[in-house]
Amino acid sequence: MTDLRGHARQLLLSNVQHGYDPHFRFDYQYVCPSLHKYPWQWYWDSCFHAIALAHVEPDLARSELESLLAAQDPDGFMGHVIYWRGAARFPHLRQLESKWAPSPHHSALIHPPLLAQAVERVFNLTGDREFLGRVYPRLAAHYRWLAENRCPDGDGLIVLISPFESGMDNTPTYDPALGIRRRRPGWWRVRLRVAGLHVSHLLRGGNYDLARIYRLGRFNVKDVAVNCIYAEAIRTMSRIAAEAGRPADAVRWTTIAGQVETAIVGALFDEETGAFFPTYGADRRTSRVLTVAGLFPLLLESLPGKIADGLVDGHLTVPGEFWTEYPLPTVAVSEPSFDANPGAGKHPLIWRGSSWINTNWFVARGLRRHGYADLAGQIERKSVGLVERSGFREFYHPHTGVGQGAQGFGWTTLVVDMT
Ligand code: GLC
Repeated sequence: MTDLRGHARQLLLSNVQHGYDPHFRFDYQYVCPSLHKYPWQWYWDSCFHAIALAHVEPDLARSELESLLAAQDPDGFMGHVIYWRGAARFPHLRQLESKWAPSPHHSALIHPPLLAQAVERVFNLTGDREFLGRVYPRLAAHYRWLAENRCPDGDGLIVLISPFESGMDNTPTYDPALGIRRRRPGWWRVRLRVAGLHVSHLLRGGNYDLARIYRLGRFNVKDVAVNCIYAEAIRTMSRIAAEAGRPADAVRWTTIAGQVETAIVGALFDEETGAFFPTYGADRRTSRVLTVAGLFPLLLESLPGKIADGLVDGHLTVPGEFWTEYPLPTVAVSEPSFDANPGAGKHPLIWRGSSWINTNWFVARGLRRHGYADLAGQIERKSVGLVERSGFREFYHPHTGVGQGAQGFGWTTLVVDMT
């Protein structure tokens, strides 16, 4: 593929959805992740799309994020899927988890809170300060909502109530939290449904009472990747506030970011293995599965150099763990749960071994932050190589580079931000 940007642009344009939504009274415009598989607007996909669009169609990058923000609740909450103009027309199981059932317009779950990074990238590439100032209050409300409603332990760390909230739906990291011991895909799906119904029951029956969910919910995961993305977002908010002429806010965001970073290392770092693992359940047990999420602390500015070096030398570059022919597998090859064949059909079990471009994008940025520019460059070149070899697929086989999952997948265009 010689013209990577051109092909990325073409794909993004062909996935554009637009129209007028009478509920939100808004002319929306967004890129759907995949025309056949994922028609809605997904929060973190949208952020990735905006970053890619900022390189090739800046106006669309702005409208992508404005559309996402148009579905924000007055209290700052942002749902992980927005069902523009069509909740009733396209029944979807996750509507069960909607705050607004029985006629939901967005889900009641959150997604990795990447909006600040997307806004900053769009600003850096377009220089549009007016856009920054316009969205800042809503961004601030979004992160305030998360801090006030999703961090029940007072340590500043976000707690997830459903696997879908991490964006890494079927990661084996959650197997213990979901009570999954057998590796059969059918069994996983049943457990996932039960967990999903449990959450929707708590959400709807409990009138979206999060305190009750934290008390009664079985999932309650402090996810490594989500919290690192959150910490990075808060640092980004500090820079955005400064650019938007709000120096006092900037100082406040910096303080919070430092607290979240310290809490991640304090609660999720495991000295013995030199790796990061999430906790789950009411008693915050550790789920010891080595996944790509465990490399996300490289995003933390204050991560001690010794820990960063340990992640790189002890895990990331180890061929029996993450350094495959087409890195980075979502699960270390050494894990019994590693499975790079998600299976065909409508609902494959994903995030259990295949390589994804968005996780490579995060890790490469983290590596640069800690002085590993060469290694970051290698991951970026290998990511571009995957797209050149197999097209814009949802994910790829980490040993063979064969494309897997949806075709024409939106966020794989992130490679334009990696060259
Ligand atoms: C899958 C992925 C999730 C993504 C969604 C839309 O559910 O696991 O991360 O947001 O598809 O692409």
